[in-house]
Amino acid sequence: ADPSALPTRPPIVTIMGHVDHGKTTMLDWLRKTSVAAQEHGGITQHIGAFSVRLSAGRQITFLDTPGHAAFLTMRQRGANVTDIVILVVAADDSVKPQTLEALKHAQSANVPIIVAINKIDKDEARVEQVKADLARHGVEIEDYGGDVQVVCVSGKTGQGMPDLEENILTLSEILDMRAESDGMAEGWVLESSIKPVGKVATVLVKRGTLRKGDIIVAGTTWARVRSLRSEAGVELEEAPPSTPVEILGWREPPAAGDQVLQAPDEGRAKDAAHYRQELRDREKSANELA
Ligand code: GTP
Ligand code: NA
Ligand code: MG
Repeated sequence: ADPSALPTRPPIVTIMGHVDHGKTTMLDWLRKTSVAAQEHGGITQHIGAFSVRLSAGRQITFLDTPGHAAFLTMRQRGANVTDIVILVVAADDSVKPQTLEALKHAQSANVPIIVAINKIDKDEARVEQVKADLARHGVEIEDYGGDVQVVCVSGKTGQGMPDLEENILTLSEILDMRAESDGMAEGWVLESSIKPVGKVATVLVKRGTLRKGDIIVAGTTWARVRSLRSEAGVELEEAPPSTPVEILGWREPPAAGDQVLQAPDEGRAKDAAHYRQELRDREKSANELA
């Protein structure tokens, strides 16, 4: 099949960086300026995965908290859930151990990076120092003749943030991300929990379109999709590729990092879940014997 014939999908962008360098603050700014958030009063449950609809109708999916185990699990399973990494570096603190760790993750996954130098509103901001430190650690930033873009921002005041959005869109046009939007849906579990409404999992759809009533398997459990909700709590009819959705209807909550596959019917879903449970049990007892 000709990949360029597939429909385009929004870029999936992961925000990474050292502790307290402002990842969540930047995401909050992006979320608040999103058309969707404005339409629905900006009520958000913090699931760290959301889609921003820009006024021009273009969309970006953002993921927070990439440090957690789910990302490692997905990587080990060969899944690149993210298309672009935003490497956040605080202008007053510069490159730190977790900055380098994030860099290593992005490089080994072969994901392009955009550097966001954050907190430029602060008196202590040392932008040139940050650039020099990044270059010293092998980041080929454009100021030093490389092709990694650097955007100076303040997640607090919003300064430079529209430029960051613009850079993301430009890069994603170059990357030209596409995915099958019909056919059996496929995705990954980002998070799961038990809430008063029931067993919930946040699933990032990568391929196909997920709809209410669909049957899906994840790890050793399965669901008949009872509802799909965006991070803003909006009930969705369907989730096309690159959409993060909260799904209700699980028998048991799946594990973060599990792959989600649509099944043709409940019987097939149950069989797949049971089969995997058996494999895991056997593996466990083999390990206990060893
Ligand atoms: P972790 O998730 O704990 O790693 O932190 P984080 O990277 O998400 O940082 P967070 O957004 O929680 O911000 C850490 C602190 O920096 C908070 O007190 C923010 O208010 C502050 N902060 C974040 N961005 C900016 C900024 O652009 N300017 C200023 N002055 N402060 C900022
Ligand atoms: Na923090
Ligand atoms: Mg945070």
